[in-house]
Amino acid sequence: MSDDAVRNRYQTLVRELAEHDRRYYVEMAPTVSDAQYDLLYRELRDIEAAHLDWITADSPTQRVAPAPISSFPKVVRAVPMLSLDNAYSEGELAAFYDRVVKGLHGETIEGDDPTFVVEPKIDGIGIELQYERGRFVLGATRGDGRVGEDITANLRTLRSLPLSLREPVTIAVRGEVFMQKEDFAAINRERALAGEELWKNARNFTGGSLKLLDPRECAKRPLRVILYELVGGESHRPLHSASLAWMRELGLPTSSMVSLVSGWQALAGAVAAWADRKASLPYEADGLVAKIDSFAHRRLLGFTAKFPRWAIAYKFPALRSQTRLVGVEINIGRTGAVTPVAMLDPVELSGTTVKRASLFNWDEVARLDVRIGDQVIVEKAGEIIPQVVEVLTALRTGAETPVAVPDRCPSCGSELLRREGEVALRCANRACPDQRWKALQFFAHRGAMNIDGLGEVLAQELVRKGLVEDAADIFDLTVDRLIPADDAAPRVERMAKKSAENLVAGITRAKQTATFSRLLIGLGIPHVGAVAARAIAARFGSFESFCAASADERRAAITAIDGVGPVIAEAVALYVENPDNARLLARLRERGVSPVEPVARPARDGPLSGKRVCVTGKLSRPRSDIQKDIEAAGGQFVTAVGKTTDILVAGADVGKSKLDAARKLGTTVVDEDGLAKLLQPGG
Ligand code: IVH
Repeated sequence: MSDDAVRNRYQTLVRELAEHDRRYYVEMAPTVSDAQYDLLYRELRDIEAAHLDWITADSPTQRVAPAPISSFPKVVRAVPMLSLDNAYSEGELAAFYDRVVKGLHGETIEGDDPTFVVEPKIDGIGIELQYERGRFVLGATRGDGRVGEDITANLRTLRSLPLSLREPVTIAVRGEVFMQKEDFAAINRERALAGEELWKNARNFTGGSLKLLDPRECAKRPLRVILYELVGGESHRPLHSASLAWMRELGLPTSSMVSLVSGWQALAGAVAAWADRKASLPYEADGLVAKIDSFAHRRLLGFTAKFPRWAIAYKFPALRSQTRLVGVEINIGRTGAVTPVAMLDPVELSGTTVKRASLFNWDEVARLDVRIGDQVIVEKAGEIIPQVVEVLTALRTGAETPVAVPDRCPSCGSELLRREGEVALRCANRACPDQRWKALQFFAHRGAMNIDGLGEVLAQELVRKGLVEDAADIFDLTVDRLIPADDAAPRVERMAKKSAENLVAGITRAKQTATFSRLLIGLGIPHVGAVAARAIAARFGSFESFCAASADERRAAITAIDGVGPVIAEAVALYVENPDNARLLARLRERGVSPVEPVARPARDGPLSGKRVCVTGKLSRPRSDIQKDIEAAGGQFVTAVGKTTDILVAGADVGKSKLDAARKLGTTVVDEDGLAKLLQPGG
C-alpha cells in the first residue's frame, strides 16, 4: 500500500472505531464482535507504531494520558452552571406549572399550553464539555457553578464521550457523569470478596474517580456520560428537544428516556408514569427534570438568583424509612472483624421488608450515638444493603439504653483487639468457631470452590461437631465420618445418607474441577478478590508453581502483574509466610488439591501455542522481552516450574538440582539458543 493509502486507511480506522465505541457505549447496540473490534484496534495501533507523527488526538489509543497530572487547573465559565429548584410532591409541581403559565401570560397564544421536556435526573456528577471545530478540547466539573476544575484528561478516558463530533462545530454541552448500577454493584461485590470496605454509593465513587490525578486509574473506572443541555442552545435550534436531537446527530450521548408533554395533565401524567419506570433505569436517578422546550419561552421566564424559572427537579420519594432499633447483634466475619448489625422493627423500604441494617463499625455507633429503643432512619445504599443513617434524638423517651461495645468475642470469648490504623474490632483467635465456619462457607461458596451443599447451616454444623476445623479437613470427609454406624462418634444433625453422599461427591467434584483462581478466592486472602485471583493464577499457572516459588519470587511475580501491584503482593506474601496458612496450603496439597489455571484463550496461534514456558537464570536480554516473545508465539509465560510446565528456558547459572527437578517433572529444558529455535515458525 502507498503511504497515502495507508494514511487514508488510518483515518478511516479512527472514524470507524469511534463509531463502534458510540454504538457500544451509547446505543448499547454494537454491530461488531469484541474480536472484530480488537482486530481493527490492533491494525490502527500497528499503523501508529510505524507512523508516530500521524497520531491524532482523537485516536482511540490516545484516550488515556500516560502520566499523572499534578493538579486540576481552574476553569472560569461565562455562563454559570446553576442548580435546579426542587419539587417534592405533585402539589409543588403544580405550583411550578402555575408560575410558568403566569410568567408566559400574554406571550403565548390564548389556550396554548406550555410544552415541557421531561428527562430523568441522573444522580451523578455535573460536567461541561467544550468542542472546538468538532474536537473535544475541555471538560470541567461544575465546581461552585462559575469556577470549575479542568478534568479533561480524566474525561477523555470515558469511552461514551466522543473525542470528535460528526460535524466540525464549536459548542459547549452539559451533562452528567455516572456509573451504572450494575457496574457499581460489581465493584462492591469484588471489594466484599476481597474483604475491603464498600463504596457508599455510585455518586461518591464517580466524584472520587473524576478527581484522580492519574488518568490511567480513572480509565479503570466504568464511568459513562449523558448530555442534557446545549449551552446557548438558542443560537443553534429554537427548541430544547431539537437541540437534543441535534446533539444525538453529532454523536453525543443523550438520554433515550425523554418525553415531550404539553399542559398540566400531560406533565402530571409523565411524572406519574415514572413511578414504575425508575427501577428499570440502568443508573441511579433521584428524580425527573421538567424543562420548558422553547428557548424563547425560557428567555422570557429567566432566572431567580439561584435557579432557572423554566425548569424544576421533581424528586422521587426517597428510599428512606423510619423504624425502631430493637437491638444490636454482633457479627464475626471470616477474618475476625467484629461488627455491629442493627436489629429493627420490620419496615418497608422500596419494596422489601427490612429487619436488619448495617451500622458499619463501632465508631459509627459512637458517632450516631444510637441507643437501643431509638427511632432511626434507614436508607438503602446503592439499592443494596440497608443502613442506619440517622437517629431521631428528638423522639427519645428516656427509656433508651446505650449500645455496649463488646470487649470479648461472643463466639469464643477471646479478648477483642483493635489493630493500628483500623476501625474494626477483631477477634484474633484463629480457632474461633464463628470465624471457622464463615471461612469454610466462604471457601465453599459459588464464586470460590463451589462445593454443592456446603452452605451456612452445614458449615456451622461441621465446625460445631469438630468434624472440620479448616478448609483442608473438608477433603477428609467421608460418608462414614458424616454418619457413622457407631453412635458415639460425632455426627451431623439430621443428615441423611443420600445428602452425605451428595456432599462427598460435591467435594470430590470441586477438587477435580476447581481452577487455581477459585482456590485463591476461597482462601480469603485480604485484598485478593476475583480479579486479582485470576491474574495471580494466570501468572503462576498452577497452585503447585505458586507454592514452589520462593517468597521473593512470588512477591516479584505478583508485583509485576499489570493492575495488581504491591499492596496485593504484600498481602499474599504475609498470608503465605504465616505458619498456620503455610500448613493449610501444604495440607490442601497432601489431600490432592492441586488445581491449575486454564489458559484463558490460546492467545495466538504460533509455534508455542498451548505451551507453558518458564524462564530462569541469567539471560542475555531482559526477562520481559523474552516473555513478550513467548506470548507472541502463543505460549503462556509462567513464573515457576511445576508439573504442568512444558518448557524451562535455563539461563547461564542455573543449578543442576533445578534442572534435574525439571527433567523429572517431564519438562523440556532448553537454553536461550534452544528457545530461539522454538520461536521460529515451525520450530
Ligand atoms: S438541567 C439550569 N437536566 O441536577 C439547568 N440537570 O440540581 C441545568 N442533573 O446541576 C441542569 N440530570 O448536575 C439538568 N436531565 C438533567 C439532569 C440534571 C441531572 C443534575 C445537574 C444539575 C443538578 C441540578
